[in-house]
Amino acid sequence: MSSRREDRLFKLGPAARHRRCAGKDAVTVPVLESVVVRSPKTFYALLMPCYSGPELEVLARKGVPKSNIWGIEKDLATFRCMRRRLGINMLHDALSSDKSIVHVASIMAEMGARFGLIYLDYFGQPHAEHVRVLRHIFLRKMLAESGILLLTFGKNRSHRYVARINQKLSTSVPVRHYVDTVLRQCRKKDPSVSPYKTLREFRYKSRQGPSEHEYVLTEVKF
Ligand SMILES: C[S@@+](CC[C@H](N)C(=O)[O-])C[C@H]1O[C@@H](n2cnc3c(N)ncnc32)[C@H](O)[C@@H]1O
Repeated sequence: MSSRREDRLFKLGPAARHRRCAGKDAVTVPVLESVVVRSPKTFYALLMPCYSGPELEVLARKGVPKSNIWGIEKDLATFRCMRRRLGINMLHDALSSDKSIVHVASIMAEMGARFGLIYLDYFGQPHAEHVRVLRHIFLRKMLAESGILLLTFGKNRSHRYVARINQKLSTSVPVRHYVDTVLRQCRKKDPSVSPYKTLREFRYKSRQGPSEHEYVLTEVKF
């Protein structure tokens, strides 16, 4: 990887990163802090982390060992850097593909473990692929009892659309609609899939160059 690219991705020190992501961190840090970890050694998390994001720091403060944390990253250069630097289990894939979520589910099933936290910080707009991932998470019972699912989507971030109508739909349909619909479908298929206890949405804005993007963090507690 060129050093400029590495600089951009990973050498952004915590101060610079937090300056850029202050609006995001003001929302996500309290939500992450509120995750209850009763037994750190048996608490597992699936994340889309980055070098100086808050999620690893918060989980470390709660005593969760790095070996219990799985990170997924679709970009190969980013993945290699994170594997070298973060010390967690990194998987190189796009979580939106069925292959990778099924892979993660089978690792957990082999270990007889479930995730206390799944934080999918996608940043793009909600898309059919994300619906498939949610379906796997619910039907494969990847979340522990009292597990928490966090989903972030960007309202005006670009994505590839097969038709303009999809863009219209995905920018106007609230994220909670996706979660509600997928969970309802999954519970119809398998009534032992748990309903959620609470669903909350938090909005924040962040600026990247000249454009400002609006994000929705959805917190689903089971
Ligand atoms: C928003 S960043 C993570 C930021 C981090 N959570 C923080 O707060 O600093 C999202 C990361 O997930 C990766 N990503 C996005 N969509 C993905 C997908 N479908 N599968 C795997 N990785 C993905 C991106 O390449 C990026 O590195």
